[in-house]
Amino acid sequence: MIPHLLNIEDLTAETITTILDTAKGFSDVALRPIKKVPVLRGRTVCNLFYEDSTRTRISFELAAKRLSADVLNFSASGSSVSKGESLKDTALTLQAMGVDAIVIRHWASGAAQQLTRWVDAKVLNAGDGCHQHPTQALLDLYTMRERLGRIEGLRVVICGDVTHSRVARSLVQALNLMGAEVTLVGPPTLLPPRVETWGVSVSHDLDGVLGKPDVLYLLRVQAERLHRQYFPSAREYARIWGMDARRVKRLPAGAIVMHPGPMNRGVEISAHVADSYAGVITAQVTNGIAIRMSCLYLMLGGEGGQ
Ligand code: NCD
Repeated sequence: MIPHLLNIEDLTAETITTILDTAKGFSDVALRPIKKVPVLRGRTVCNLFYEDSTRTRISFELAAKRLSADVLNFSASGSSVSKGESLKDTALTLQAMGVDAIVIRHWASGAAQQLTRWVDAKVLNAGDGCHQHPTQALLDLYTMRERLGRIEGLRVVICGDVTHSRVARSLVQALNLMGAEVTLVGPPTLLPPRVETWGVSVSHDLDGVLGKPDVLYLLRVQAERLHRQYFPSAREYARIWGMDARRVKRLPAGAIVMHPGPMNRGVEISAHVADSYAGVITAQVTNGIAIRMSCLYLMLGGEGGQ
């Protein structure tokens, strides 16, 4: 059903709904005393991480283990990558060892796509440069549907460093496919050129859009990708673009605040808002495991996945 999971734009609304519904079915595994189902017994999943990660790596590992797959964890530091081994040779090595699926995070946009040309294994993109992070978008949709009962027609404001955000690129495509209405807000320096062509509204005035959303989605300022001065200081960013106690009061009743993590407390989100919405933000993390179980199952074990 899903040959590889590389980009949201490869999916249809129907496939996304199947992934979310299958994840719902898996979500209760976490509530059992024995948190395991045998559906991927005998299958091998390799996590191939060339960039740092806490949530995504652990989440994919737990998801594969809860499906009873064998899991290999490979991180570039501490491997032969430090001796200069290329992605291709690393991929061919994994292929020779007979892995069934490779979960890849890489600093280069397109790395996951490239990997599919070298291996027979199913490839899942866990974040490639500033390009895509499909399972993050899927877990965000799942969390919105769980909290607000629907996705279609939701008004979602995504605020912050859109230019460097693979999360924003994936999430905008996913929300558009599912019929939500998206507004991107941020400093002009952190919104990509021609962003209006993404099928979204664009604003540079966070205060001006606060009365509107069902979901306010904050993006992390990607400090490690900022090679120029995009705004005067973290303090100035927080003052103009940060979500704080004063701004959060102006959201409509019932609106939720989301963040993919890791959070820069005091920059895009104040400690007060982070703690007030900790329930939603940690639900995103919990739901990530069910979503990744669903993707692995549909790709490796489910109908047509063999
Ligand atoms: C995101 C990522 O790595 O792209 N984090 C994550 O996967 N939860 C977002 C970010 O780093 O800002």
